[in-house]
Amino acid sequence: MKKISALLLAAVLSMGLLTACGDSETAAEAGNEAAQAEDTQAQDDVAAESTQTDAEVEADAEADVAGAETAALADGVLTVGTNAEFPPFEYVDDNGEPDGFDIALIKAIGEKLGVEVEVENMEFASLVSSIGSKIDVAIAGMTVTEERQQSVDFSDAYYEAVQYVILPEGSEIATAQDLEGKTIGVQLGTTGDFIATDDIADTTVQQYNKGVDAVNDLINGRVDCVIIDKNPALVFASKFEGQLVALDGAQFDFGTEEYAIALPKGDADLAEKINAALAEIKADGTFDELVQTYIEGE
Ligand code: ARG
Repeated sequence: MKKISALLLAAVLSMGLLTACGDSETAAEAGNEAAQAEDTQAQDDVAAESTQTDAEVEADAEADVAGAETAALADGVLTVGTNAEFPPFEYVDDNGEPDGFDIALIKAIGEKLGVEVEVENMEFASLVSSIGSKIDVAIAGMTVTEERQQSVDFSDAYYEAVQYVILPEGSEIATAQDLEGKTIGVQLGTTGDFIATDDIADTTVQQYNKGVDAVNDLINGRVDCVIIDKNPALVFASKFEGQLVALDGAQFDFGTEEYAIALPKGDADLAEKINAALAEIKADGTFDELVQTYIEGE
């Protein structure tokens, strides 16, 4: 919380500098001064933090609960729900721990907010309804949809996606019309599920708790294709090279989607803090590094 207000302060300062200095100063110069102000502020913060007594820390935490501030961070822990069946965004690593782009991103956000991040791995279809009870927020390559917005808020979007169609090599399915009447495998409660169920005529939709199970049934000939987000589709199809191909959903008239963090409805303070942290992570290059590590460097 402290760091964010420091940043706000730096932003306000830099705006002041801009107007105070008038035309003679370039925006780049003003930016530099703002960055310096931020630096000094950050150093002050480190000093302030290390001299804070336990009592002060506790008083701070209490003030958070009492004010308009979010309760989600008051205990110093951000509990994050995910479904670690969606590489490269989230998967279970060799030590049995959730890892992936989203996990690294939410941990970076937690660091900016000065809270610990605890990840709860659960079924994708349970995430939205668990926000505000079992979990504070959810990060799971989750697409912003109007339907979900009835029950949760979303952070600013952080990634653009599209559904892909995974097919057996040599399949004749190539257009939206070819999908009509087909048996389609999807992960339950995902946008791929909604497209297969609501937007394509006469389909039989097989819903799986894990996308990879749908892909295994495609290999076994139990479904004609699988509809799933681009990056997981590429990961899954590459595991069966020579047997499966993954086609861009644009070819089937599927629209683009945006991933965002799902938040408790109406918690403006938490949304503001998470968005500010996300903006910082984008501005300081951390975001691009994570894309490189987890998505583009696959
Ligand atoms: N983007 C799709 C959706 O929001 C699929 C997300 C699935 N994510 C996961 N971690 N299993 O419905």
